[in-house]
Amino acid sequence: MSWDNELLERAHKIIELYPQKRSALGPLLYLAQEKDGFISDDSIVEISNLVDITEVQVKSVSSFYSMYKEEQTGTYLLSVCKSISCEINDSRSVINSVKEFTGLENYETDQDKLFTFEEVECIGACGGAPAVQVNYETVEGLTPEKTIEMCEWLKNDKPEIIVADQLQNKFGGTKSFDWAIEDNTGSAYTVPGFQNIGTAKEKDN
Ligand code: FES
Repeated sequence: MSWDNELLERAHKIIELYPQKRSALGPLLYLAQEKDGFISDDSIVEISNLVDITEVQVKSVSSFYSMYKEEQTGTYLLSVCKSISCEINDSRSVINSVKEFTGLENYETDQDKLFTFEEVECIGACGGAPAVQVNYETVEGLTPEKTIEMCEWLKNDKPEIIVADQLQNKFGGTKSFDWAIEDNTGSAYTVPGFQNIGTAKEKDN
């Protein structure tokens, strides 16, 4: 399905932020993923028209970067870090907990489209390893037990907006760095919550 007026309006506002239309390609791909949970062929056509590049050029970018998904994701994308700092802090047990709870192997989505699981390279939270992202919101210092609790909470409570601070307070342990501010914004989709492109949402407390 093509983009509705509301999405097109957001797209045009993003394009206006850049001196050249094509520079808006990355954020527009996030809008596409917000819309469908993956980058659809229709969105590739839409974006190609919006920024005046070929569909092949759009596809070459969307298929290169792993944060743009080619298949439908579940409501919650669980990205578990497997790089060195996390590995030496027992990320394997965290990975196994996610696999056990969801029944998923790497890059799989469950039938109910609730969870997608992926093992990823460093997500920049090495000081709080092992680290996980839920819809690109980071939680650090997880144990296998806390990982299961987090998955249960997602499954039972089905939060609409995932906020890193909330994940950290509920399930996290050692953290890399304290920003010393409360951040109440997060992601409502399987895309990063960026305020300047409208993918960040505020959570009521
Ligand atoms: S190695 Fe896991 S966050 Fe950097």
